Amino acid sequence: MQKPHPLVAGNWKMNGVTASHAELEALSTLLKTDSPAECEVLICPPATLIASSSNMGLSAIKIGAQDCHSEVSGAHTGDISAVMLKDAGADYVIVGHSERRADHDESSDLINAKTKAVHNAGLRAIVCVGETDAERVAGDTSTVVLGQLLVSLPDSCTSENTVIGYEPVWAIGTGKTPTVEDVADIHTEIRTALTERFGEDGAMFRIIYGGSVKPSNAKELMAALNVDGALVGGASLKATDFNGIIAAYRA
Ligand code: 13P
Repeated sequence: MQKPHPLVAGNWKMNGVTASHAELEALSTLLKTDSPAECEVLICPPATLIASSSNMGLSAIKIGAQDCHSEVSGAHTGDISAVMLKDAGADYVIVGHSERRADHDESSDLINAKTKAVHNAGLRAIVCVGETDAERVAGDTSTVVLGQLLVSLPDSCTSENTVIGYEPVWAIGTGKTPTVEDVADIHTEIRTALTERFGEDGAMFRIIYGGSVKPSNAKELMAALNVDGALVGGASLKATDFNGIIAAYRA
């Protein structure tokens, strides 16, 4: 049976200035000199660095954005549309990151509209879902994650234009991770929900894990059932660390 091609994505969050291009250059060199990795590599720098990063022409590294507005253009001061991100050279847009859901009160309905905008612009969406610690402790992980998932995904989703990012909020930037079994369980529940909704194509969506992924735990987490890559925050800022995570997909 065909399997999804893994994706290792770095989310730089609100980190990075012009000097950070050196990390992209270093990552590109590592990808060329190290043994080949069986995965796609993506970096989502802050919006200010998308065009310049994409103009570096580093063929082994795709460039993405961390958010977009749900409309194409208009009177929305400070916002950026998916069309603009495409124009700047982005291939992917992360939508529904828990930091956007929490800091900007983004609902799954809004994330659904943003995902549609990403698809309409001809880009790929990485749609993020994940439970808080309180929800986990209350035993509500499945209900919360599957609830966010079904509302956040528009009918325009296919395995080509959409990646699911499972990121338990309590594991982000904390050094804590769920057990490999817990990751496999929730990823498998997500897989089942995708095949119920999108039929056979549901089997080909990439479901990537995020939350304190490091070179030391990547191999084990990436080997879990239905884990098709990683969404990496802190450890994506340093080329050597990120390359160490990509190593999970080297022979
Ligand atoms: P950390 O890898 O720093 O835990 O962040 C994960 C994340 O939020 C990626 O989107």
